[in-house]
Amino acid sequence: MSDRSEPRLEQAPGTSTTGSRSAAVPGQPPKPAMSLEGICRTFEQGSVKLEVLRGVSLRLFPGEIVALVGPSGAGKSTLLQIAGLLERPDAGEIRIGDAEASRLNDQQRTLLRRSHIGFVYQFHHLLPEFSALENVMLPQLIAGLSKSEARERARQLLALVGLHKREDHRPARLSGGEQQRVAIVRAIANVPHVLLADEPTGNLDPHTATDVFSELRRIVHATRLAALIATHNFDLAAKMDRVLEVYEGGVIERADAGRAGP
Ligand SMILES: Nc1ncnc2c1ncn2[C@@H]1O[C@H](COP(=O)(O)OP(=O)(O)O)[C@@H](O)[C@H]1O
Ligand SMILES: [Mg+2]
Repeated sequence: MSDRSEPRLEQAPGTSTTGSRSAAVPGQPPKPAMSLEGICRTFEQGSVKLEVLRGVSLRLFPGEIVALVGPSGAGKSTLLQIAGLLERPDAGEIRIGDAEASRLNDQQRTLLRRSHIGFVYQFHHLLPEFSALENVMLPQLIAGLSKSEARERARQLLALVGLHKREDHRPARLSGGEQQRVAIVRAIANVPHVLLADEPTGNLDPHTATDVFSELRRIVHATRLAALIATHNFDLAAKMDRVLEVYEGGVIERADAGRAGP
């Protein structure tokens, strides 16, 4: 039997994030948590123009975990950076909830990113001088929670991924899988609507990668987050709800997703 406590993730006392994740209304089409329309991005290196994204459109719905696959250099990271409002596209629109990113100034984009989007990278990017608990508290303190509120929620989140006995460990004293679990719960500490992850299990051995991915998928389904996960790992991609492939500057939906079971 599991000794993990199961905190109710939606309840982040005092968070300034807007609204709750709305459940689908019967008779109405579900509302995407995020949509991208006609995203274009070209890089210029000297006289060479590299058209990486040539009109990418996609939608992410609450409670689904979607794989983003494609060969190295296809544009997965570029697309995630743009979806996460870290870079601007040359053309196209990003909608997060009811907000249209192109209408926002830099400060409004930053606020929207902080309140609505969580990121996980291949390398954990935890702050080395801080404990696991403090790493999960930090984004909440930045969002305006009190220390005691942030500590309580950080404890719950670490317990959710089985790390309640590792709260005081610094990242260097955690295994690779544990570091990524901390990075995942840090990413959802402020109750984002969208989780973007760029090869989140890419540094882990296959067994640990599968375990960490299972935790991630469980959290996405339980919290009704909308998640887009770039991965090279086709076994993991097949365990997601849908698979999108970046192909020749566009994104196509692969039909073979969601059949691999747990
Ligand atoms: N800032 C940049 N300047 C120039 N070229 C870039 C830049 N970022 C990415 N690229 C190029 O765009 C292409 C897509 O890169 P990336 O999005 O990292 O692909 P993936 O994540 O699928 O491996 C690659 O050819 C890469 O070299
Ligand atoms: Mg990449």
